[in-house]
Amino acid sequence: MVCSVRQRFFGWFAALCTFFVVVQMMLIIKQQRIDILGGQTNKDASPLDPASGQHNKTVRRNEAQKSAHRGRGKLPQIADKFLIDPSPSNNSLWPFHRRWDTNCSAIFAGDTRVIRPTYHRLKEERQAHNGSILVPEDHEVQTWTRYCESYKRLRRYPSSPRSKEEAEFPVAYIIVVHKEAAQVERLLRAIYQPQNLYCIHPDTKSSSDFHRAIRGLVGCFKNVFVASKTEDVQFAGFTRLLADINCMRDLTGPRGDEYRWNYVINLCGQDFPLKTNLEIVRQLKAYKGHNDITGVLAPPHYIGRTSYHHVIENKQVKRTSRAKAPAPHALKIHFGNAYYAATRHFVDYVLTSPAGTDLLRWSNDTYSPDEHYWVTLQRAPGTPGGYPHPTWDGNVRFMKWWGDDMKLPWCRGMYVRFQCIFGVGYLEYLATQPHLFANKFYYSYDPVAIQCLEEALISRTQNPALSDRLPNFPVTNLVWQNHTALP
Ligand SMILES: *[C@@H]1O[C@H](CO)[C@@H](O)[C@H](O)[C@H]1NC(C)=O
Ligand SMILES: *[C@@H]1O[C@H](CO)[C@@H](O)[C@H](O)[C@H]1NC(C)=O
Ligand SMILES: *[C@@H]1O[C@H](CO)[C@@H](O)[C@H](O)[C@H]1NC(C)=O
Ligand SMILES: *[C@@H]1O[C@H](CO)[C@@H](O)[C@H](O)[C@H]1NC(C)=O
Ligand SMILES: *[C@@H]1O[C@H](CO)[C@@H](O)[C@H](O)[C@H]1NC(C)=O
Ligand SMILES: *[C@@H]1O[C@H](CO)[C@@H](O)[C@H](O)[C@H]1NC(C)=O
Repeated sequence: MVCSVRQRFFGWFAALCTFFVVVQMMLIIKQQRIDILGGQTNKDASPLDPASGQHNKTVRRNEAQKSAHRGRGKLPQIADKFLIDPSPSNNSLWPFHRRWDTNCSAIFAGDTRVIRPTYHRLKEERQAHNGSILVPEDHEVQTWTRYCESYKRLRRYPSSPRSKEEAEFPVAYIIVVHKEAAQVERLLRAIYQPQNLYCIHPDTKSSSDFHRAIRGLVGCFKNVFVASKTEDVQFAGFTRLLADINCMRDLTGPRGDEYRWNYVINLCGQDFPLKTNLEIVRQLKAYKGHNDITGVLAPPHYIGRTSYHHVIENKQVKRTSRAKAPAPHALKIHFGNAYYAATRHFVDYVLTSPAGTDLLRWSNDTYSPDEHYWVTLQRAPGTPGGYPHPTWDGNVRFMKWWGDDMKLPWCRGMYVRFQCIFGVGYLEYLATQPHLFANKFYYSYDPVAIQCLEEALISRTQNPALSDRLPNFPVTNLVWQNHTALP
């Protein structure tokens, strides 16, 4: 009896599933046009970005809608879109990274006569090399930095601030990485300025080649260092949060006194900037002392993440049936983005206040604590740079999720764990976005996307007048931006 009921149930269940799958596939084909042929499997998914695995479409959709509204108004003229100097000086990044022969201005302008062939070339190369474009390996990256002076010269790292405005506004970075030193090197090159301070946190699990490459890289700069304590970063685990905290301790130590940075931005290895250092400084100034930390009160189905004790079993964070005591200091648990821009005062508060230290201790056995820790403190009264608005309104990074706001262009890349890995076809849209960073890029999936962003940034760095022409930038209409009750 039970069995037949179960069978009938399973029959219905299977029919429903099939129906659901078919409808989803039709949706994908019609609206998203996933690139099934050009796509890779999920094998490459970053286990280090908790957000990537805990996708909730409804919650993320709100976030995406918010960011879509930011690029409001009419689309800028094509001339404003790419902002690449039509007569660039030598943009070549030779000899370390292969330069693809393509016209990035045309790609930013959305010219399909250039985008399509580029796209097909990338696809052919991936097929010829077992699914990935060949990129410099970690042991090669290590050799680049053997002679720091020539490395820095060839890669044209700036040796002095570009402007007084930038010199007077140093920025700190936390970069949590675990693989592909060549992409980390490109990211660092894109955000590097001598007045800034950079803490890189490599995973203790990463290969020794990777660690050596990162150590070689940081050895060339006095303002770039490896976190003095590194963690075995676990997916959705407490150690992901600790990686940031460890870097914050280093950034506020004697180095912090030397560099006197105003804001810290945390990144992962698959981020890439959409803005130059000057533009980032202008946006941070426009925050007027607030932290850009997005999130809302924890929705009901997220409450279990912090209301039960969790344990680590087989490298996975598992919920137990043991209930946790409420959060200390009557803090209201929020749920938000693990990536932020935060002031120096906020960081000091996190590391030294009873609220910051007690919440950290309390969070050590919760699920994905980096998604509640920052935003919970940010929304509490009395937090430096905080504001009470439960909102996804922010301008630090752009992400595209599967099934989010249909007003966003379809992925034009590939989805990995529901998140878009950007390809050249998305640059036209990214160039209109006011965000400081976009996530994610894979060097071995689409190196041209990274190359074109690099070229645009180099062009605007060399010709800062182009920065003044960026549409809707810096953003001044975030809901919390004029909030006055700063402690
Ligand atoms: C996602 O979040 C929304 C809004 O909080 C909720 O209604 C929905 O059930 C969630 N979906 C899943 C799959 O958790
Ligand atoms: C561009 O720079 C590279 C490396 O610095 C150099 O080899 C190349 O000749 C330069 N090209 C032009 C057109 O100046
Ligand atoms: C690149 O494309 C832009 C915009 O379509 C065009 O104006 C320019 O002439 C092209 N440059 C080259 C070298 O083809
Ligand atoms: C090709 O990729 C697959 C899956 O990642 C891997 O198992 C295999 O060893 C690779 N083959 C070569 C020749 O690298
Ligand atoms: C969390 O912190 C408590 C109190 O400091 C400690 O007893 C416990 O072992 C910690 N748990 C983990 C998983 O680190
Ligand atoms: C905040 O103030 C600036 C100028 O002081 C103004 O341009 C902007 O529209 C204001 N934003 C909001 C959301 O009120």
